[in-house]
Amino acid sequence: AFMNQMLPLRATEQKLNALFQGKRCLVVPGDSDLSENVVSLMGQAVNDILQALLPLGENIIAVMGGTTMATVAHSLDDSLSEQRDLMFVPARGGIGERVDVQANNVCAQMAEQTAGQHRALYVPEHVSEKTYEPLLREPAVQEVIAMIKRSNAVIHSVGEAIPMAERRSMPQSEIDFLKSNGAVGEAFGYFFNKEGQIIKKLSRIGLQLKDLVSVKCVVAVAGGASKGHALAAYMKLAPSQTFLITDEGAANVILKG
Ligand code: G3H
Repeated sequence: AFMNQMLPLRATEQKLNALFQGKRCLVVPGDSDLSENVVSLMGQAVNDILQALLPLGENIIAVMGGTTMATVAHSLDDSLSEQRDLMFVPARGGIGERVDVQANNVCAQMAEQTAGQHRALYVPEHVSEKTYEPLLREPAVQEVIAMIKRSNAVIHSVGEAIPMAERRSMPQSEIDFLKSNGAVGEAFGYFFNKEGQIIKKLSRIGLQLKDLVSVKCVVAVAGGASKGHALAAYMKLAPSQTFLITDEGAANVILKG
């Protein structure tokens, strides 16, 4: 029965793979919009992919926040730490999320699940230029930023543009700007349109999209029919080594176009 369920999914993965010009994809059954269990399934897939892709020895893994990432964290396990030292660091400074889904918290959870280590980055987004510069010179902040720059793996999610802007309490004028410029998705603090062009970016600290190009292992994880268009757009700008983990709900929307 399991194989009967999985075979059509392998065909879906191949179609996505072709659509995304060779970027690898893994599709789990179900729709994350309808069941939280599907997010956990994607989390198990993240665990498998990391097991396959991470080198033995030292690893620095930069992670983003969000509800998907928070659930994914609970699906990781300590088999990842066999012959590896794992250090989880938040990929970027705070971007106005609920505390429990912030990258700092996701890092702590991933470290606990995998028997790894983590660091926190305590840099709020809304600080004046005057505060920002000296804050960046703080040794504790510099240490984490140096680690982020050395990360060999990144795990992040992708969201819908306007819900993310609202969730992050962006001012109405910026939300209107995103709407009038056709923003469909958000990943990594970057907002983009359906062509995959960047319209706006948030938070200046930490890993930038251009830095992703040199990171060996990049895992994007997001599912649900509601995220189909955001994902289709994100994959146009994602670096070629990106491994997408998604679900049937999103995949069906992406393939319908
Ligand atoms: O950057 C993308 C968003 O963090 C996705 O958030 O997983 O809560 O939908 P979500």
